[in-house]
Amino acid sequence: MKTSVSIQPRPVSAEAPAASPHPVQAGLVDSYGRRATDLRISLIDKCNLRCTYCMPEGGLPWLKKDQLLTIDEVRRLVRIAVEIFGVRELRLTGGEPLVRHDLVDIIAGIRADHPQLPIAMTTNAIGLERKAAALAEAGLTRVNISLDSIHRETFAQLTRRDQLDKVLTGVEGAARAGLTPLKVNAVLMRGINDAEAPDLLAWALQRGFELRFIEHMPLDADQQWKREGTVSAEETRQLLSTRYRLRPTDEDRGGAPAERFDVLDRDTDELLGRVGVIASVTEPFCSACTRTRITAEGRVMSCLFSTQEYDLMHLLRDETATDHDVARRWADAMWNKPAAHGTDRPGFELESFTRPERSMSAIGG
Ligand code: GTP
Ligand code: 5AD
Ligand code: SF4
Repeated sequence: MKTSVSIQPRPVSAEAPAASPHPVQAGLVDSYGRRATDLRISLIDKCNLRCTYCMPEGGLPWLKKDQLLTIDEVRRLVRIAVEIFGVRELRLTGGEPLVRHDLVDIIAGIRADHPQLPIAMTTNAIGLERKAAALAEAGLTRVNISLDSIHRETFAQLTRRDQLDKVLTGVEGAARAGLTPLKVNAVLMRGINDAEAPDLLAWALQRGFELRFIEHMPLDADQQWKREGTVSAEETRQLLSTRYRLRPTDEDRGGAPAERFDVLDRDTDELLGRVGVIASVTEPFCSACTRTRITAEGRVMSCLFSTQEYDLMHLLRDETATDHDVARRWADAMWNKPAAHGTDRPGFELESFTRPERSMSAIGG
């Protein structure tokens, strides 16, 4: 197993992005006609778990505090996104956003600026038990919690930390605080937790959570990803069908990553809840993408798999740069969004694919 981490430091595109022909008021449109209305801001690259499909055992060289977006910078970016680009929803991500000490203040600030904006957060839930009420009070709408196993040993093997108890109490705290609908994200790893998929679904159904299974993507810092190792959406559906009947929903999926299914009791056909499958690798959904991402150090990533990043931080910290200047560069960066990431090409292998410099932990999901 490779132990050295070769994907740092991350270069930023020196050149300006090719200019978009549209005024910024047209929103974050790209050259393929998609429009981004879903903003994801990573607040910190650090995390307290070491999920094998994401982080290396020894962590990564973390950004320093003064390299991270400040509260005011996050608020300014969200204002530009909402007021100029017409962004309609916000997701806060990490690393692990709960690791940021000023998280409650960041959320309260955004909420003060945008009373109606849906604000979601993706978290591993460690420490959420204590913080959930304050986060909800500050204006957080809901959370998506990453949890791949409800079995202690499997959890410890996958995350390299024996902390399942903390996650489970965090989940309960989030539900108590009303951070709902509560969704759970799980990555299935072959031979490790794939056989547990129906157990995890049973656990989520009993609690009224919506579980989504995400195909493992080549965004692991250890660069061990193999296409044949990915538990596909099709396999996932088969695994779940050993215990439940899945019925496709007829809802319009829009730009959502998850394909949703009704989960029915196999004997009585009783509707037990819903499950989602996010087939990023085998059935990608790039053509309907509505997402724009900002990294913790203030760079635009137009796609999870972007190899080009465009810096906004230097503009945010330049007193002469206006909101329009920031918006112009952001819109240009998004104009250059690639059509698709290509992991579904037959015979796709890492050798024939330029993977991004970043691991998922430094993008946010
Ligand atoms: P909600 O359903 O609104 O809560 O949001 P969501 O489905 O976007 O949820 P979340 O942000 O938790 O995304 C779930 C996972 O889907 C992410 O962690 C990624 O693994 C994957 N995903 C999200 N967006 C993209 C994308 O643009 N491309 C790819 N390939 N995967 C994505
Ligand atoms: N492939 C798919 N999903 C991943 N995540 C982290 N790394 C990967 C990867 N390589 C998931 C986490 C979390 C979300 C942010 O992304 O499980 O739910
Ligand atoms: Fe941390 Fe999330 Fe990466 Fe796991 S997947 S190491 S919880 S950032």
